[in-house]
Amino acid sequence: MINILNSYKELSSIVADIVEKQLRKQPLSKLILPTGSTPLGLYDELVKRKLDWSHTITFNLDEYLMNHDHPYSYHSYMKKNLFDRTNIYPNNCNFPFRPTLSFEDKMYTYRGIDLCILGIGSNGHIAFNEPGSSFKSRTRVVDLTEQTIQDNSRFFGSAEDVPKQAITMGLGTIMESKKIILMANGKHKLNILKVAMNGKVTEDVPASILQKHNDVEVFYCD
Ligand code: F6R
Repeated sequence: MINILNSYKELSSIVADIVEKQLRKQPLSKLILPTGSTPLGLYDELVKRKLDWSHTITFNLDEYLMNHDHPYSYHSYMKKNLFDRTNIYPNNCNFPFRPTLSFEDKMYTYRGIDLCILGIGSNGHIAFNEPGSSFKSRTRVVDLTEQTIQDNSRFFGSAEDVPKQAITMGLGTIMESKKIILMANGKHKLNILKVAMNGKVTEDVPASILQKHNDVEVFYCD
């Protein structure tokens, strides 16, 4: 079911409530976090709430194949929008890395993910699992589609500057999370959200795999 909210503020605040509840219930929580435009309000809201992040461990969904210190890397995004504004320990903030199996091992060592927050791409991707990705996929290096490169060029200034490859968690990896929240913002996301959540479960629409998870909540505002 898609929960339709009245505003971006409400979207950010409802998802912040869920994160806050998780961190208060279990300070040593393991979270999966997204980047992009959608979670910016969520991160602002979480910062405002001055939560204790000192026992929290995070895993980001994906990262471009580029220098981590590049201003447009997802490392830089997370530092700027969340990590540097909380008391989280930098060593507890993980990004997909090579060898990709060691990254998965690390997630497994921490005995699984408590809460995973996702955005959705206009082609139905989650993380950088583009249409056609296997539902069993694990963390790996992927080529970005032309559509995703175009969508993300707004951060880089031009499509030529967007890296052509990334490392992403797999759909199989994401599905092992105990609880999943999917956030979507903007009229251009509504159609794909409906297809993903109410249509056929198919690898052509990566987010449709979420229909098979037993604890997913979907929040949308236009
Ligand atoms: C980023 C990620 C992507 C985005 C998706 C939506 O870490 O996982 O799948 O969630 O591309 O991006 P925005 O929020 O910018 O529309």
